[in-house]
Amino acid sequence: MTIAGIDLSATEFWGLPLPDRAAAFTRLRAQQQPPFFAEPETPFSEQGPGYYALVRYADVVEASRHADVFCSGKGATNIPDLPAEFNEYFGSMINMDDPRHARLRRIVSRAFSPRLIAKFEEDVRRVAASVVDDLLATGPCDFVANVAAKLPLKIICDMMGIPADQFDMVLVNSNIILSGADPEFLSEDMDQAVVQLLGAGQALADLVTGLATERAQAPREDLVSALVTANIDGEQLTSAELASFFILLVVAGNETTRTALSHALMLFTEFPDQRALLLADLENRLEGAVEEIVRYSSPVVFMRRTLTQDYTMNGQDYRQDDKVVLYYYSANRDEAVFPDPERFDITRSPNPQIGFGAPGRHFCLGAHLARRELRMMLRELLTRVPDLTAGEPDRLLSSFVNGIKHLPCDFSG
Ligand code: HEM
Repeated sequence: MTIAGIDLSATEFWGLPLPDRAAAFTRLRAQQQPPFFAEPETPFSEQGPGYYALVRYADVVEASRHADVFCSGKGATNIPDLPAEFNEYFGSMINMDDPRHARLRRIVSRAFSPRLIAKFEEDVRRVAASVVDDLLATGPCDFVANVAAKLPLKIICDMMGIPADQFDMVLVNSNIILSGADPEFLSEDMDQAVVQLLGAGQALADLVTGLATERAQAPREDLVSALVTANIDGEQLTSAELASFFILLVVAGNETTRTALSHALMLFTEFPDQRALLLADLENRLEGAVEEIVRYSSPVVFMRRTLTQDYTMNGQDYRQDDKVVLYYYSANRDEAVFPDPERFDITRSPNPQIGFGAPGRHFCLGAHLARRELRMMLRELLTRVPDLTAGEPDRLLSSFVNGIKHLPCDFSG
């Protein structure tokens, strides 16, 4: 593919085979300066001015570190500008700047108290074991539906205090919100797609608002209770803030971890030597394996920022209001930081991957939990079903999530 033939705004680009996509980013990284693209069309707004694609590690790190210059408040999860209410409704703090971002993050971080986290960390081990019990009982099946989607969904819902009979509806609606351009989840008719998206948000908002009313009366040991009762500084979330935070949490926590787990099985199938290496010393190599899986798969492909002022970064001049898109997927393959980046190497050291975002104000709130979920699930899977392999993936057509919709798996049982 020639440089001129690469269009990150074209839906078809994101349907390319993964090696072709990676090769296109290699070409873009070799350019002297960040490439500039026209914006994709969207049903929600007029076509905007275009964006610089930050494909190199150094650019993504610097932009993440300077949140006052590279802001999120004009939209981090979408390249086109969407109405502010829309961004906040679906993205909560991920689409906000300080001081509002800092306030929400503070309240939420306090609610993740060490006691609550410890309780759910123990749950992760138990849930991972029961997911593998079910897999062994079911036999070869769709790995996404039967394994990868189950653990993160159950953990987030349990943390929030969502009853088990609502898990499926949470999954269906979070799939719609993160469906990208995939016709399996979202209508190709733009008007219809807007109705579906808003409906999915509303269903999740209604669920958590109902729960919040109950918990305000009778608090329990869950996150919703902690968020609706005032903390030590008398701070608490409003009902609208809680609804949006819940939407962010289910979307950010479910789809990403599920994607990483599905890629993990694909990678251990493609690179059996790495599976053998891991199994030879699981305790010492599991942590590194998880970092490498997140680097290689980069479940969140990008986040956007907007310049609040003129700024020069790594030789490129940017103007106030310019849009830049931070391609974690490409930064995690930058040969200046990761030698031989297409090699999947669980012993890679150092491995400063930035799949959870680069250090900065918006660094993933769930990184600790996600790493734990991945470690527990891999330990259960690889030790109890050692010959588990993946077939051909059915990938999500999305520029935002490197998703896998369906993944046949096989094992002798
Ligand atoms: C492998 C799994 C995951 C990946 C790859 C991932 C990736 C990311 C990325 C790239 C960001 C944006 C960073 C930025 O804009 O600078 C982010 C933010 C966030 N993530 Fe995650 N995430 C994962 C799992 C989770 C989980 C399990 C949760 C919740 C329990 C979660 C909750 C959040 C929240 C709330 C934010 C917004 C933080 C803020 O704006 O201050 N994530 N994540």
